[in-house]
Amino acid sequence: MSSGPTLDLSRSKLFIGGEWRHGRTGQTLPVINPATGEAFAYVADATVEDGLAALDAACTVQNSWAATPARVRADILARTYQSIIDRRHEFACLIADEMGKPWAEAQTEVDYSAGFFRWFAESAGRIHAEGQLGLEPGSKYHIAVSKRPVGPSLLITPWNFPLAMGARKIAPALAAGCTTVLKPAAQTPLTSLLLAQVLQEAGVPAGVINVVVTGNSRDLIAAIMKDQRTRKISFTGSTKVGKRLLAQAAQNVMNTSMELGGNAPLIVFDDADIEVALEGAFLAKLRNGGQSCVAANRIYVQTGIEAEFTAKFIERLAALRVGDPHDPNTVLGPLIDDKQRSTVHSLVTDAVTKGATCPIGGQIIEGAGYYYPATVLTDIPADAIIRKKEIFGPVAAIYTFNTELDVIDQANGTPYGLASYVFTQNLARALRVANAIDAGMTGINCGLISNPAAPFGGTKQSGLGREGGTEGLGAYQETKYTGIQL
Ligand code: SIN
Repeated sequence: MSSGPTLDLSRSKLFIGGEWRHGRTGQTLPVINPATGEAFAYVADATVEDGLAALDAACTVQNSWAATPARVRADILARTYQSIIDRRHEFACLIADEMGKPWAEAQTEVDYSAGFFRWFAESAGRIHAEGQLGLEPGSKYHIAVSKRPVGPSLLITPWNFPLAMGARKIAPALAAGCTTVLKPAAQTPLTSLLLAQVLQEAGVPAGVINVVVTGNSRDLIAAIMKDQRTRKISFTGSTKVGKRLLAQAAQNVMNTSMELGGNAPLIVFDDADIEVALEGAFLAKLRNGGQSCVAANRIYVQTGIEAEFTAKFIERLAALRVGDPHDPNTVLGPLIDDKQRSTVHSLVTDAVTKGATCPIGGQIIEGAGYYYPATVLTDIPADAIIRKKEIFGPVAAIYTFNTELDVIDQANGTPYGLASYVFTQNLARALRVANAIDAGMTGINCGLISNPAAPFGGTKQSGLGREGGTEGLGAYQETKYTGIQL
């Protein structure tokens, strides 16, 4: 059983201008352990003024950070990568404590997160080497094209990947030369505060990264966005909140990156290798207890293989261990809070009341913590709410289909287009279906596609822009054209 490190109380404050500060009012917010339902730490609660102080700090050093040699920025990111790896245990403990993520997955999240610092350290060093100098067609003057940082950036991250979502935004922002204000979810602030400390120790100058935790997100974000010095917002969260932020961003024509909700289809054809499909579906559904925007929300199985697939999937779910996130054998931890658990349960009850079959799970686990069992639903009627909503819990909704065209139609029949998964041994079909699905990402015969080197993002109401990959750096850059007459 892993044990948590002693909490460093200096890190339970706001991180502004390189200093750990109490909030203006001295108020604090509790951090609840979802496995027990009890508070185990308290962090400073930022006011709107604290948020603006963080923006001031970011703006003050924007020019100097942008002028810092790219090689120096790259070296800082590389040191951050190494430090996160060296402190894997400490980060994983915080993630398990504040998010309820099972130990093995918490460690995987740490490595995934560190990978963003390594990936963008590698890109940072090349930034100025990639400019272009050409002649305009009439040979009258030169056209110089270079990249410059967008400027002070507001980064808003969710609770489901407390370290990875911050890493995916901070690493490219710093690589590009942007300064940042990070507002992590109030449920999971401790991981971000530890990351701020790691960044500071790695050499990030005061003011380049600021972290504000608040119980008043709406007002604090609105105030920072209203300020014309804020040049970029990168948000990961629900489509509903994303739409509101887009409307606010429009007021100042602000550069935006939006990673929003999903409703991922996972398609298993008759000709799939069933063991590969089961493994992929298990991962795509159960990773983080289904609390991910790339989680398989709708599992479509072709009629010829459906009975065998469903029976074997249920067998796997019945065998998995639910329990203490710190137990290395735990596969399914608690959900983030009681509200999330009630939402998941109400989707299940709605479907069952309307006629769905629930061969496993479906009942709230009584006792301490916000546990919900791995659940399967089949025969889901057309009017069940679960068909349209993002589940964000360990509930596998299984549907059947007959033909390729039929399943493509069903897969695309949603306003979302984030992740999708296809299982088949027919390569031509795999590529054809991947191409026909209107989603930003498709996994072929794999249930985990997240990777720092790949562009993560969605189409339709799943968002705008990409994070990670080559595109991830571009999200924090402007293209500058200079005409030069010699
Ligand atoms: C998310 O759920 O928002 C991100 C998951 C991932 O990066 O894999």
